Amino acid sequence: MRIIGTGSQLPKKLVTNDQLAHFIDTSDEWIRERTGIEQRHVMTNETLEDLAIAAAKNAMDDAGVLSTQLDYIICSNMVNEYVVPSMASIVGGHIGSQCPAYDLNAACTGFLYALDMADVLLKAGRAEYILIISAEEPSRIVDWNDRSTCVLFGDGAAAVVVTKGNSLRSIKVSSKSDKSVLYYRRPLEPTPFIIRDKNTGPLCMNGKEVFKSAVSSSLRDMQYVLDKAEITKDDVTYYVLHQANLRIIDFIRSHFEAKQEQIPINVNKYGNTSSASIPLLLDELNRDGKLRKGDILVLSAFGAGFTSAACVIEWNKSAN
Ligand code: ACO
Repeated sequence: MRIIGTGSQLPKKLVTNDQLAHFIDTSDEWIRERTGIEQRHVMTNETLEDLAIAAAKNAMDDAGVLSTQLDYIICSNMVNEYVVPSMASIVGGHIGSQCPAYDLNAACTGFLYALDMADVLLKAGRAEYILIISAEEPSRIVDWNDRSTCVLFGDGAAAVVVTKGNSLRSIKVSSKSDKSVLYYRRPLEPTPFIIRDKNTGPLCMNGKEVFKSAVSSSLRDMQYVLDKAEITKDDVTYYVLHQANLRIIDFIRSHFEAKQEQIPINVNKYGNTSSASIPLLLDELNRDGKLRKGDILVLSAFGAGFTSAACVIEWNKSAN
């Protein structure tokens, strides 16, 4: 597998920490110190499909691939307006593609799960070009009165186009079921056959437990993929990490004794955009001309599930 194009799109509305402090008991200082977040984009009158379509088009333009050339569309998504049809299918309709399209939910780890699926499809000879989109609107599932969760998240969409190649040097995806530390229960239509408690949404999170799992799974997964790729931390150009909390990122940085410039961040600008965070960061690096052929990238993410994943990519966007 090889990434040949990237794209992204953010909602227009930008909300600073100070703006949040107008309606919840928090402060810019607390949020910056505990998370590194300064602002986030949130959806207002856009829909998530608008963002997903724009991100997809940007990635296809960057790759020079037409919608009619796509063999699969995979969209990682936790929540959006529609349960059915899938977001991937909605985007496919808008961009004029008729290939198979499906959504995948591995929470914040979704982009790496999608890369893994795409790699399998390419290796099996089932596809030449695959569009992967990560489109997320956590602003729809958090309680905007709960200062311990709502300050952390932001909305956004990002996409990549992948084709056959040898860029993916190693990958590990995992899942350990624990629905107690981070969950959102969907409201469902009433049925005459079930007496159900009304205990649905909003997003519930035990921040400290998530923090601990995030650090331990990231270190474990990253070491595993380095070993599998038969490289060491000295070979790594960039660590492209899930942007959830600067303190988690710093923990990983110090463990791998990485330099600040090896760890690009955008959590300060966008907050935690769930599975969109890694492809958003990749798109920024790509568009800023920071990625060179042969660069070694270690991607790592964690999320509700509890899911986690990491991979090593040798950047080779234009093959030659
Ligand atoms: N502003 C001000 N005070 C706050 C805020 C806030 N926004 N949020 C919590 N506090 C208060 C708490 O009420 C608590 O007060 P108390 O001591 O009087 O009880 C105090 O600050 C400390 O709260 P803690 O929860 O102990 O703070 P902690 O240092 O653990 O930081 C945080 C909380 C930022 C959530 C941290 O635990 C974290 O980042 N965890 C990881 C979360 C994460 O990555 N989630 C994404 C998962 S990915 C996915 O799949 C969705």
